[in-house]
Amino acid sequence: MKHYFSEDSSVETVNARMGEGTSPRMAEVMACLVKHLHAFAKEIHLTQGEWERGVDFLTKTGQICSGERQEFILLSDVLGFSMLVDAINNRRPAGATENTVFGPFHVEDAPIRAMGETISLDGKGEPCLFEGRVIDLHGTPIEGACVDVWSDNADGFYDVQQPGIQPKWNNRGRFYTGKDGVYAFRGIKPTSYPIPDDGPVGKMLAQMGRHPYRPAHMHFLVTAPGFQRLVTHTFVGDDSYLESDAVFGVKQTLIAPFERLEGEDTLWRSPFDFVLTPV
Ligand code: BEZ
Ligand code: FE
Repeated sequence: MKHYFSEDSSVETVNARMGEGTSPRMAEVMACLVKHLHAFAKEIHLTQGEWERGVDFLTKTGQICSGERQEFILLSDVLGFSMLVDAINNRRPAGATENTVFGPFHVEDAPIRAMGETISLDGKGEPCLFEGRVIDLHGTPIEGACVDVWSDNADGFYDVQQPGIQPKWNNRGRFYTGKDGVYAFRGIKPTSYPIPDDGPVGKMLAQMGRHPYRPAHMHFLVTAPGFQRLVTHTFVGDDSYLESDAVFGVKQTLIAPFERLEGEDTLWRSPFDFVLTPV
């Protein structure tokens, strides 16, 4: 039988072209992609004009990408796709700290700071003490864990979004735990902020009647030999965007206490333990 194209046999016709030498995983991924892509067009009866708008959107998404800007990941984030891939790949036992979206603002090799030191270098915002322990599933402290943290400043921008305005490494640092597994640092009580929305993804969100805000959070990347890499945030519990995070990153277990300390130098305290899963 000849494999000419028809609407009814579109998937089989395209997938029959898979070359002999294609790796089994590549063949599996591409065949499944074609199957769902064709089903999507058929189900909604995609018009020629809509297809052209889609191509134009993807073109603009690519054109705005640079070393500092990754609009495709942003697209994946706002469609909940990044969180889905993260969930599929980080199924953890009960009691282990959950992962959430990594985001585009992590910078490698942040300064290693002394335990308790501040990461806030611009003097803005309400000071907050973040402290807790890095432990395993049995509650045993993990020595030598690296707690890499980053957050926006009180104006809602990361240092890398405002070079020359914010000090380099503002609201970033790495802390290594000792025998007791304890980490502690000073930062600011996080503030909510919009994801970059001046490109095609921001326009798409507006057309979908969605806002671009993320609820206030502190980012954590916690690593230790013998344990799974933990990419997570802690969220401020009274934030009005918790249930409408633009990138779907909120999980109930990641909402941390933020306690006001009256009469202290540090105005806020946020205790949180990170429970790592063995590899
Ligand atoms: C962030 O939390 O830094 C972030 C996550 C996803 C998209 C944009 C920003
Ligand atoms: Fe963030």
